[in-house]
Amino acid sequence: MRTVTCAAPVNIAVIKYWGKRDERLILPVNDSISFTLSLDEMYSKTTVSISPTFTEDKFWLNGKEESLENPRIQNCLKEIRRRASKRKLEGSDEDVLNWHVHICSANNFPTAAGLASSAAGYACLVYALGQVYGVEGDLSSIARQGSGSACRSVHGGLVRWYKGEMEDGTDSFARPIAPANHFPNLRVIICVANDGRKKTGSTEGMRRTVQTSRLMQYRIRESVGLRIDSMMQAIKEKNWSAFCDLTIADSNEMHAVCQDSFPPCIYMSDTSHAVASLVHQYNEIQISKGNLNNKVCYTFDAGPNACLFVPGAVANEMLSLLLRTFPPSSPPNADNFIRGMKPQTLSLSKELESIADENAQSGRLKYLIHTKVGEGPRVLTED
Ligand code: DP6
Repeated sequence: MRTVTCAAPVNIAVIKYWGKRDERLILPVNDSISFTLSLDEMYSKTTVSISPTFTEDKFWLNGKEESLENPRIQNCLKEIRRRASKRKLEGSDEDVLNWHVHICSANNFPTAAGLASSAAGYACLVYALGQVYGVEGDLSSIARQGSGSACRSVHGGLVRWYKGEMEDGTDSFARPIAPANHFPNLRVIICVANDGRKKTGSTEGMRRTVQTSRLMQYRIRESVGLRIDSMMQAIKEKNWSAFCDLTIADSNEMHAVCQDSFPPCIYMSDTSHAVASLVHQYNEIQISKGNLNNKVCYTFDAGPNACLFVPGAVANEMLSLLLRTFPPSSPPNADNFIRGMKPQTLSLSKELESIADENAQSGRLKYLIHTKVGEGPRVLTED
């Protein structure tokens, strides 16, 4: 018997993946770029066991047994076994390929709430299977077949998923492009407005956008490719201000094509727009003071929860601003409201207090998750 337990992180795209050129192989219409988050606060954990005594393959998700019929899990499993059998033919290892597998997966954050749970989940599944079957080499193209965004969670730091040109998808994989500390001391604040299941899942939303949105044709043909080039340049030059503007612009474009779909896919709520406008007001102040490196940016996945990338120097200030603008209803206490890394001080300048008060009542947040960017998956235990 062999057992491995692994943890894999969430990733948040700054240039979004939205739309597939091949639904079965999960091949995207454009390249995307993401930051992998730290394993400290949000992760998927997966235990994989293989044993000659198991009589069938089995799968548990968040403590509940689920069917293994799911084609996405099957694709990942088949591809790992195919690669393992190739190694075996090359003369390695004992005969483990006929053993059945038991997989036990859990997220420590809400599943399917637009908090990138499928990305962490499939990256973890593939990484753990890879460990147990001794599969080496690129795992991102296998994770991609579970959920597109999962291919980027296989690596740490800043990651680019190349859409590829080939019909069989062999050139569609993710590669790291810069380490986690590329923009030093970067923080992430996730503003959770709603952690319930989203109405239109990403897969269905993307399909609708590709089939019905004319604005999407503009995004694919004229816009997102140029933005990828500008983003690569901003990253290379460590130009934080440009990074922020491009991240915001791409999130807004993704939600514009969602709204242009028929029927429209609406993911952002009044609270989402209130958070976005607070960030713009905050950035105006930083720009007026010439502090471009203190700008903050937001991005939204297929849900109402803003993900903010925040320079460490202003993280406490940003947390204080959010706390004052969106005060928790009960109990009114920062400890419950701010999960993850605790801020040292919570104080605001008069100028920021007045912005908070101006925007108060414009939305409601349930809680914040304060975390960092980080490294890729890792093995927790092995026997
Ligand atoms: C909005 O990876 O969940 O988070 O490939 O159909 O499983 P499938 O979709 P998924 O899409 C996530 C899209 C996004 C943007 C992004 O992460 O790039």
